[in-house]
Amino acid sequence: RGDPRLQGISDAIRVIPHFPKPGIMFQDITTLLLDHKAFKDTIDIFVERYREMDISVVAGVEARGFMFGPSIALAIGAKFLPLRKPGKLPGSVISEAYELEYGSDCLEMHVGAVQPGERVLVIDDLVATGGTLSAAIRLLDRVGAEVVECCCVIGVPEFKGRCSLNGKPLYILVEPR
Ligand code: PRP
Repeated sequence: RGDPRLQGISDAIRVIPHFPKPGIMFQDITTLLLDHKAFKDTIDIFVERYREMDISVVAGVEARGFMFGPSIALAIGAKFLPLRKPGKLPGSVISEAYELEYGSDCLEMHVGAVQPGERVLVIDDLVATGGTLSAAIRLLDRVGAEVVECCCVIGVPEFKGRCSLNGKPLYILVEPR
């Protein structure tokens, strides 16, 4: 996209072949978190994009959406909402299941955490099939929230410039290496 910071962000992500399974090229963002400039550039790019969009909630997807979402939320004056894997939240929850390569998983959100009409940004570290983000969008749709956009640090090229996760725009910084 021409932003000179993106190369440094991409370079800071470590690729570990065959984790957690043979054939998977794992995109390890822990090395990005350990690189102060790359981490700050990542947060700054999102903050620059979303600060004037009147977003009141940043919803982060467990686990790695939790590592980027709160910094963005604080900087843009929004709240942070964790979307969690099953059985982790103590209060009443609503759930959305999604398919994985083998089997299925589920995201949960506390009832009453978001009010109808609130403008929400959904963040995760990576989008592959889009199944996880789609479940997040469905959860927020069900409570009447308005998902303004989804964003990820890393996205497979299939999603580059494509704006259709349940009809919501998707903003991606870099491709997997
Ligand atoms: C990874 C990643 C995203 C999701 C993307 O999480 O952090 O949340 O997969 O894949 P998708 O676009 O095909 O749905 P993972 O399921 O490994 O869970 P974890 O963060 O709890 O380890």
